[in-house]
Parts: sequence; C-alpha cells; structure tokens
Amino acid sequence: MRQLRVFDAVARHSGFSRAAAELHLAQPTVSMQVKQLAAAVGLPLFEQIGKKIYLTDAGRALQATGAEMFDAWARLEMQMADLKGLKQGRLRVAAVTTAKYVVPRLLGPFCQMHPGVDVQMEVGNRSAIIERLERNEDDLTIMGMPPRGMDIVSHPFAENPLVVVAPRGHVLAGRRRVPLTKLEGLPFLMREQGSGTRLAADRFLKDRGIRLTIKMELGSNEAIKQAVAGGLGLSFLSLHALGPDAAPRSLVALNIEGLPIRRHWYIVHPAGKRLSVVAQAFYGYLKQEGGNIRVPVLTGFSATGGTVQRA
Ligand code: PGA
Repeated sequence: MRQLRVFDAVARHSGFSRAAAELHLAQPTVSMQVKQLAAAVGLPLFEQIGKKIYLTDAGRALQATGAEMFDAWARLEMQMADLKGLKQGRLRVAAVTTAKYVVPRLLGPFCQMHPGVDVQMEVGNRSAIIERLERNEDDLTIMGMPPRGMDIVSHPFAENPLVVVAPRGHVLAGRRRVPLTKLEGLPFLMREQGSGTRLAADRFLKDRGIRLTIKMELGSNEAIKQAVAGGLGLSFLSLHALGPDAAPRSLVALNIEGLPIRRHWYIVHPAGKRLSVVAQAFYGYLKQEGGNIRVPVLTGFSATGGTVQRA
C-alpha cells in the first residue's frame, strides 16, 4: 500500500520531486519505492521522454487498480472506525487557507472530547482544496465558496466577512461610507488566483464595474497583512485573518460602501458520501459551535450593513 501511494503521487504530479514534497519524503526514497514496485510488477511503470516522465500502459493499469484499492481500504478503515465508535478513528479535514484561523480552534476542544481520534488537517487555497474534494480525499472540507456545478452537499456554519484593510493612518481610515469608486487608482495587494478571498473580491468588484490597480499578488494572508502594514497597498481580507491575536495593531478596516462582503464558512462533502462516525460527530459539532464563533471586531468595521454574497 505504501509503495502504491508513493507511485500514485508520482503519477499524479508527473514527477518525483513534487511527489516527494507532497509526501514529505526524500526524492531518492520515492525513486526507490517506485523502482521496487516496478520490480514486483515486472514491468516499467514510467517512461522518460526528454525531461518529462509518462505512465506506461502497465503504469496506467496499476494506477487504476491502486485507486480501487485505496477506496476499498478507506471503506475498511471506516467500518473499523464505526465498530470502535468515537473511541478511536481518523478524521481528515481539508480547509482553505483562511479557515486556518477558525478550524484549528474548533478542533482543539473536539480532540479533547475525543482523545482517541486522530486528526489530519490539510490546508490549501480554494483551487487546491477543490481538487482534493473532486478526488474525495477528505472526510470533510471547510471552505468559503463551495464550487458550483459539483455534486456536493454544503452547509453554512459560521460567518466569514471580507473587508478592505489599510495601514493605520491611511487617508481613508476613519472616514465613513467611503464610495467604492474611491478605491480605483489606489494600489492593491491581492491574494493569488485560485484563492477564495480573491474570487469573492473579484466578483464583488465586477458586479459593481470597479477596476482596481493590482500592484502585487501574494500567496498568503500573513504576507498580505505585513505588506499592507508596511504601506505597500490595501487589500481584501477575511476578518478572521485579522483576529484578535492575529491582527497587527497597525491595520484598520476601511468603512467602504457595500462592505463588508457578508459570506459564510461551509462544511462540504461529496453528495452520497457515507460519513464515518467520527466525521458525523465533527459535522454536528461544527453546526453547533459555528454560531459561537466570534467575528473579530476591527476599527472601522460595521457590524451591520454590507453586501450578502451567496456561495
Ligand atoms: P482562500 O479561501 O483561503 O483560498 O482565500 C478563503 C475563502 O473562500 O473565504
């Protein structure tokens, strides 16, 4: 099974180094595992053309069989966990990057209630998390915008408002109901394409015919916070990313017409997925605790008004 998982990662990434990074293994270990598997099968699994590697026919057949085996193994694990109830089991949660300010805090008390449960949390931006959802790799997914057109079940469980942040002392800081058009021409720092925050901000601006000057794209909320505080520009960020102990004191939320963008965190899983006992317990726990999650309050943020954005 271990060799198959290594082989599957190499096949998905079409490369040994990316597979090694995903699996947190050294590249020679990955190559060795694939070599041993090829020896066991008796046929080469990859062929190298130029700098790229491709699956051979034997490789493709093995990948398909591997996928069936992983499914069967996951079902077996679930049956075993169900037999053990909540005493023991595994919970695989995938969360979009911004949800990392919310989900671990919820996981803490849940793990204390169920000390035998092993939790694995994967964090990635919205596109990466959607790919995992498509491959049915996790028990539950936490995200801000469940994808449209995918056969999934989603349930909102907490608020996730998006605001425009500026350095304290910015000329618009402290002004009330600033027209959205005032943002045009100001330098903006945006999350990378594929981020849910970026998508929500882009949709909001497009609906209102506003074009921003994007000076820089950054792949993390933390980098954005530091860059805004450093005066490089303004940015759209979830209030959760600015939480009480997450926000540098040097940031403020601007009071802009139509903001905050009112959004939610959703619990998502593929339709028809049979949730394990542990996953059902976590689902129920999120639904119950979601309402108690306090949205951080920041200077300039108004608790009323704003624009509701549907997923
Ligand atoms: P992101 O998603 O972390 O990919 O930006 C957050 C969200 O959808 O709110």
